[in-house]
Amino acid sequence: MNVLIIGAGYVGLTTAAVIAKLGHTVHCVDENEQKIAALTRGDVPIYEPGLAELLTDHKSRLFFHRDGQKHIHEADVIFICVGTPPDNNGKSDVSYVNRAVAALLPHLHDQQTLVIKSTVPIGTNERIYERLTKEGKNVRVVSNPEFLREGSAIFDSLYPDRIVVGLRDDDDRSLSVMQTLYARIHAPYVVTSLSGAEMIKYAANAFLAMKISFINEMARLCEAYDVDVAHVAKGIGLDGRIGPHFLQAGIGYGGSCFPKDVAALQQMAYEKAVRPYMIEATKTINDTQFYWYVQKIKRTLGTLSDKRIAVLGIAFKPNTDDIRESPAVSLIKALHNLGAHVVAHDPKAVLPNGMDIKQTKTIDEALQQADAVIVATDWDAYKQLNWEQVRQTMSGNVVVDGRNSLPRNDIIQAGLTYVGVGRG
Ligand code: UDX
Repeated sequence: MNVLIIGAGYVGLTTAAVIAKLGHTVHCVDENEQKIAALTRGDVPIYEPGLAELLTDHKSRLFFHRDGQKHIHEADVIFICVGTPPDNNGKSDVSYVNRAVAALLPHLHDQQTLVIKSTVPIGTNERIYERLTKEGKNVRVVSNPEFLREGSAIFDSLYPDRIVVGLRDDDDRSLSVMQTLYARIHAPYVVTSLSGAEMIKYAANAFLAMKISFINEMARLCEAYDVDVAHVAKGIGLDGRIGPHFLQAGIGYGGSCFPKDVAALQQMAYEKAVRPYMIEATKTINDTQFYWYVQKIKRTLGTLSDKRIAVLGIAFKPNTDDIRESPAVSLIKALHNLGAHVVAHDPKAVLPNGMDIKQTKTIDEALQQADAVIVATDWDAYKQLNWEQVRQTMSGNVVVDGRNSLPRNDIIQAGLTYVGVGRG
């Protein structure tokens, strides 16, 4: 098949590489000239394991363009993979999607399938369909959301748990187009309406976020009742109906998807006068979770003012340099504002501009003279620290486990005070 992809961001590039691997010819378009120049040279603008290799292996079928106009006509399938950033109220801004549709519109013909991969508010795909119909275009519109995790996006695309395809009732062709496109991917199909597919995407992310907030609330309760939340997570996670994933208590979720999609779903609920209690609670717990840690550190140290605190981890999760909505950044800001002398470290991520906080090159430098250290992102490098050495480097002896992922016994044996969340 001949596939055109609009947007060479995180989702667009991953989709382009994977579809080329599946044997199709891919033209990928992005208005960012530098990005296209880099990709044409063979440089990959984002870090995602396996992506650069896939792009190189299939470069004979992969083409990058700043202006893709002349490739629209020959495409069998056109993917829209542009961003939908949140506005000030948490609503998704669909102007990039609308612009992409407007640019495609004059060149579309009846044999084509337009697939929306961007995460868009419920009802957007129907509106796109109506707009095309009004312009006399008999193009089929498909909603095909992605469920990619940063750091395993290629694996998640090649081995998805399911393929969600949203279609219009009267569309009897698009499902087979999608099945042909993804013929080499083995996964169950969930076929629903356009709006149904949009809702599945939001519901999946909101549910996973809810699991994290739920276990974080349990962690708070476990502290009150002197119970270890890690045992609770294991004890409930082995129940097949609950499942073991996303039950790791800590300073909360961040990243480009969960906070944005939870906020967007909340706004969509209000727009229809439905009170989203569960989503509100998910968000409230997450928004306050880093502060739970701040209070904990304050209680343990007696005061925060003039205490030197090493924060290990800035990224929202390990193996990425992404700091979007990172709870580690909220934690650093709060500790700093409350008078602590904060030094931060991360193997890949960099503190946002304008923060008057020192970021050290080495872990050791961050630990020197520290009264307390908090691991805010569970990078392997932090989990594998030599705790004897940590104790010798620090002035104080408090180790705060922001992800409940450190070896508690080793830390205690090294003569340090271990502080987790909900660890009894
Ligand atoms: C997520 C979804 O997993 C993916 O399906 C969706 O398409 C985009 O959003 P991603 O943002 O890459 O992917 O990160 P993920 O690995 O899911 O982690 C999200 C956040 O939750 C991280 O901050 C992580 O540290 C936190 N988390 C995750 C927990 O605090 N506890 C857990 O048990 C799991």
